[in-house]
This record gives sequence, C-alpha cells and structure tokens, in this order.
Amino acid sequence: MIYGGRVLGRRILLGSQPMQIVQPGIRYFPDYLDRGGQEAMVESIRQVVAQAPLYVPAMPKTGKPLSVRMTNCGALGWMTDKEGGYRYQPTHPATGKPWPAIPRELLAIWDDISGYDKPPEACLINFYDDSAHMGLHQDSDENDLAAPVVSLSLGATCLFRIGGNKRTDPTRSFKLSSGDALVLGGEGRMSFHGVDRIYPSTSTLLKQGGRINLTLRRVNR
Ligand code: SIN
Ligand code: FE2
Repeated sequence: MIYGGRVLGRRILLGSQPMQIVQPGIRYFPDYLDRGGQEAMVESIRQVVAQAPLYVPAMPKTGKPLSVRMTNCGALGWMTDKEGGYRYQPTHPATGKPWPAIPRELLAIWDDISGYDKPPEACLINFYDDSAHMGLHQDSDENDLAAPVVSLSLGATCLFRIGGNKRTDPTRSFKLSSGDALVLGGEGRMSFHGVDRIYPSTSTLLKQGGRINLTLRRVNR
C-alpha cells in the first residue's frame, strides 16, 4: 500500500523525511510531526491529563507497579491493576468518569498513516520519567488484530526494541525521538516490543523532561 507518498525503493517520501520499513509491517516515520505540531499535541495531551490524571498501573496478580505512568483518551482505555489485570474499560480507574475524547489532530495522524478505514477507539498515554522503561510485550488485548497500532513519541529520545511474534525471536533496537511516528501493522502487528531506556535531556519539548508515548488502537472489530 502507498500512503500518499512517492515510492523510492522501500522508502516512501512523506513530508521532509522518508518512511522506513524497519521489518515487514513495521513502518517508521522519523520527524513525522514538526516542532509546532509537537507543541500543539503536548497542549492537547495536557488538556486530556487535566481531565484524566496520570496514574501508576500495576501488574496483574503481583500488583508490582510499572515504571511508566498512564492515562487514556478515547471511548476505551487500556489499563492494568492487581485485581483486574490487562483490559480495556470505558472509564478512568480513579475518577470513574469516561475518558476524554481523542484530540482531533491525533485522529488525523491515524487517518494519514494507519491505512485502516475504521477510527481508533483507544489512545494509551504513557509517561516515562528518565528512569522508566517498558518490558518486551505484545499488544494483544484488542479484538481487531487487522487494525494496526499507531505510536507517536514526544519529548526525550528512547531506545525502542522490536522483535518478532515470539518472545524468543531476535530483536533489533533503534532510537525514537520527539515527533517520530511508528506503525505496527500487518505481519508486524503482534511483534514483541518495549522501551529499554530513556535518554535524559535529549529534548526541550517537555519542560519537566521525560517522554510521552501515545498509542492509538482499534479494539473492536
Ligand atoms: C507501548 O508499547 O505501549 C509503548 C511503546 C513506546 O513507549 O514507544
Ligand atoms: Fe505496546
């Protein structure tokens, strides 16, 4: 499929930077959002967080806290806690209110790069401080696995790791920087992935530092 760009071998030009196919189904869009677009997105996310505060998620059963803080926007939000485990739910665990709507500029990114005709239902907002990370995992709590996962990174650079559909498959790692977008779709939809580390002070976007990752998902078929 071609997403409005010019095909150059395996690279497709969209805006200033070419899209790169990292491995089958994994499409990387470096500098997808320029600085102005990133600042506008941070402002929209601040408004979401004002309605739906960040909370500390916990592992199922053990209750061990994750190092990231999370919240969501959209009709559904992904969450995990000791009692309920991994799941989507329509309300914030602390306020009990519905999640705020997905900002329209995020919906526009989905329309631009997902290649999927139905809109996303969930946007997970992960906040990483300088010492946070995320272990290797699959995004597997969605019923619609034909839909891709679209990810946008803001703030500090991270070292992102991605492998295959089995935990033991070989992995590769590369940096994701502020404004970069990544799509996990098709053959790559169930690829194991995680964040090994954050590189402190690599961006001036977030005044207090840290990294925000937004992942848009379609939950229901
Ligand atoms: C996630 O897999 O939920 C987050 C990935 C990232 O932070 O880039
Ligand atoms: Fe994930």
